[in-house]
Amino acid sequence: MLLPFREHLDFGPTPYDLLQQKEGIPIVRGNIVEDVTTLELGKWARMGVDGCFLNLSNQQRSDAYVCEIPAGGQTLPQRHLFEEIVYVAKGRGATTVWQEGRGKVTFEWAMGAIFAIPLNASYIHFNGSQEPVRLFVGTNCPAMINIFHNEDFIFRNPFDFRDRFQEGDDFLRYNQHVTDRYWETNLVPDVNEFALDDFPMKGKNVKHMRFTLSDTTYGCHVSEFPPGCRSTFHRHGPGAVIIITKGEGYVMLWSDGEKRQRHPFKVGTVYSPNDLMWHGHFNTGTDVMRHFAMRGDSPKYSHDRFRNPSWTMIPMADEDPAIQEEYVEILKQKGVEAAVQVVED
Ligand SMILES: [Fe+2]
Repeated sequence: MLLPFREHLDFGPTPYDLLQQKEGIPIVRGNIVEDVTTLELGKWARMGVDGCFLNLSNQQRSDAYVCEIPAGGQTLPQRHLFEEIVYVAKGRGATTVWQEGRGKVTFEWAMGAIFAIPLNASYIHFNGSQEPVRLFVGTNCPAMINIFHNEDFIFRNPFDFRDRFQEGDDFLRYNQHVTDRYWETNLVPDVNEFALDDFPMKGKNVKHMRFTLSDTTYGCHVSEFPPGCRSTFHRHGPGAVIIITKGEGYVMLWSDGEKRQRHPFKVGTVYSPNDLMWHGHFNTGTDVMRHFAMRGDSPKYSHDRFRNPSWTMIPMADEDPAIQEEYVEILKQKGVEAAVQVVED
């Protein structure tokens, strides 16, 4: 099989590595985070709260971070020339967003919400509740800081993208079901309650919705798998970060020539496959399983799909039968019937 050419060259720390060294919070690497709500965090001077970086799948295009806002606390004001998509992993609170000379917008959120900060707008997250808040946030900071390699440009840039921020009620003016399986909005109050569209070509009762949040170029989607349902294996470039928002199961992943790894997942588990790492999702629960995926380019701003079926997907017929046998056995122990159709992911 002819594979795409890959070469990893290490010329020392990148501008992103240097930024991280300066920020000094813990860095989590690898492919799996068991539970973002229990990750160990460190004092993060820039944010004014505790946090850690997630540098999963060994790449420097996108990253994620987790921060915790204590009861009654808030972050320091932030502003930066990279995009952010926020998933509320725990608790409830509010965010205020603004641009110079325009009215501030404040919106509330709770566990399960997703929203994005308009590019280079200022913002503060508040926790007015009695419980700590944990935010799980995907960003394209690595790509941006590595391109411009100038922290003043990224963190102290006065340019206002007037077309990306609307004051007052207009902040939420992007809120429309643009086409099948695609929404544009700024805030989804709960990804587990949001009505998804059917995705029949992926399998019976499989549901899906892609989002563009606050007009970011950073694409994301929510998928739902019915009980007894799994995907086939596929692979692609690195950078997709997935968090389980409902249900339970496991992810299986491996790189060519290496052993298959099976990791159980539950609400709060995050995983992110390396470049060209095979991966598949398995729902083992008696209820539906949902995940929220942040996956790089938004289809609104990039139509590129660097996919070649001969090296990106394993048809069921070519898969090691032990994988399906093991899945059926696990389902049987839980009293769940395996779905006839496997989701082609
Ligand atoms: Fe994938």
